[in-house]
Amino acid sequence: MHTQLEQVVPLGHSLGQYQRMFKLTEDDLNKKLLGVADGPSSFNAELTAAGGQVTSIDPIYAYTGEEIESQFQSSFDPVRQRLTPNPQDWDWSFQPAPGLMQTRRTCATRSFVDDFKLPSSTDRYKVGELPQLPVNTAQFDIAVCSHFLFFYSDQLSFQFHIDAINEMLRVAREVRIFPLTTLMLNVSPYIEGVLLNFITEGYEVLIEESDYTLVDGYNRVMTIRHKGFAN
Ligand SMILES: C[S@@+](CC[C@H](N)C(=O)[O-])C[C@H]1O[C@@H](n2cnc3c(N)ncnc32)[C@H](O)[C@@H]1O
Repeated sequence: MHTQLEQVVPLGHSLGQYQRMFKLTEDDLNKKLLGVADGPSSFNAELTAAGGQVTSIDPIYAYTGEEIESQFQSSFDPVRQRLTPNPQDWDWSFQPAPGLMQTRRTCATRSFVDDFKLPSSTDRYKVGELPQLPVNTAQFDIAVCSHFLFFYSDQLSFQFHIDAINEMLRVAREVRIFPLTTLMLNVSPYIEGVLLNFITEGYEVLIEESDYTLVDGYNRVMTIRHKGFAN
């Protein structure tokens, strides 16, 4: 699958938001981390500036920083309309007020673009896409995937999810996925099947309440880890 930039919904979250979504502790932030489908998030830029070791993989890294930023600006309103059909139903304690959402996301994207343009950042931003990642086996402690797996359950098959998670488990000892809801804010129909598949395969699988929410049901994170690797 070759991802066209105009097909992408470029959300863009900050390090603080990733920490809350994925329940990343200070100890976790000192590990070798992989962000899959990170898009224009500032997770990598901010964590690198704080001394962390992080690599991000996304097909949109084939484009320039300016192209990604311009796509982000032109698609923000449709995203907001899709995500906030009923703003009164949102838990605003985790989000800025509706009018400030764009400012917050624009800041994350600007930090990403500034970092992405640095000649020294090329090793930290890799062009690639699930279900095949351009990195060697067992390179990372934790791989996180925000707003891609489960989020696009209406477009991506169950088998794609199994292959993608297997691929993330090939390169990392632990995988965390957030949220477990789709873009339309419904619980993904794949949760139970994915859970059963990886428990049967001998992995430890947890579904926990994350420290981040938006609407009811949006606040869960799935962790899948090789047995014997616990924090
Ligand atoms: C909704 S954005 C989420 C961005 C970021 N993780 C966040 O939470 O703000 C989805 C991202 O998935 C990326 N993507 C699309 N197809 C992909 C694939 N097959 N493998 C990995 N990432 C993909 C897109 O380029 C886009 O950046």
